[in-house]
Amino acid sequence: MQMNDFPKIPVILDGDPGHDDAIAWTIAHGSGRFRILAVTTAAGNQTIEKTTYNARRVCTLIGLKAPIARGCSHPLLADLMNAPSIHGETGLDGPALPAPVMEEEPLPAVELMARVIRSCEEKVTIVSTGPLTNTAAFLLSHPELRERIGRISLMGGGLGFGNWTPAAEFNILVDPEAAKIVFESGVPILMAGLDVTEKALIYPEDFERIRSLGNPVSGIVWQWLEFFYRFHRNLDYKGAPMHDPCAVMALIHPEIFTMRDYYVQIETGGDYCRGATVPDWYGITGEAPNATCLVDVDREAFADALVGLIAAYGKGVAE
Ligand code: BDR
Ligand code: CA
Repeated sequence: MQMNDFPKIPVILDGDPGHDDAIAWTIAHGSGRFRILAVTTAAGNQTIEKTTYNARRVCTLIGLKAPIARGCSHPLLADLMNAPSIHGETGLDGPALPAPVMEEEPLPAVELMARVIRSCEEKVTIVSTGPLTNTAAFLLSHPELRERIGRISLMGGGLGFGNWTPAAEFNILVDPEAAKIVFESGVPILMAGLDVTEKALIYPEDFERIRSLGNPVSGIVWQWLEFFYRFHRNLDYKGAPMHDPCAVMALIHPEIFTMRDYYVQIETGGDYCRGATVPDWYGITGEAPNATCLVDVDREAFADALVGLIAAYGKGVAE
């Protein structure tokens, strides 16, 4: 069976681009495996103005023609925090990108989500690669459409550790109240947490493979990787961790991941653990699992798949 013989999965891409969000969207579009119904933006890596502008620039670069809508400007209750140390002041520092030709829809992300989910004949998967604010706001404002969400494939959390505090990962820490709503919603969750994303490393030699593809998108992806890796190299990473691409890759190539089902709770209080994703390792709560968690990945297979998906831009597959 060829890649394009698979039925396309209807998805909404919700994220805060961000270098790894941008790469996640690039492989999603390049794969030809998704019907991308909408792109919605989250405040996280940068302000909503900046992530929305970046979303329009990324969609223009990769030729992704889906409606784009601006998400919530702030977390449900918390003050917004950003990550300029990793993604720069623009939220997507590094290579010059084309000026955006894709316009923003004149309605909020939550309403665009409702429109496309309501009108889609199949259940829709939400791929969330930023704070979960929009998805939670959607669940709160449109409870009648909850059943129409097939799955939420998200990058967020970590079963064993955090990256922004010892206990919490950035996306969950930005809006723990939203994460709690999502994890308690009953919608099936596929969780790409730090447990797996820190193993999904793209090495400098893989950067070169991408650069040498020589297609209109690969040169930019190569520079995004170089920029993103600069921060991580100083922390002794052997490569760039592909956090957000895991949430997409797990839908395209589930066979390269190891997954475990857990009941995961979100800590919204606490002196040290706000934003932690707490797995019930031993079934102590008696609750049924609410998340399928990615816990391991075949790194080489992941890198090969990523390179292959970016190569699609030279073959007319993604255009
Ligand atoms: C997550 O935080 C953001 O900076 C990245 O885009 C990713 O979604 C990793 O913790
Ligand atoms: Ca992100």
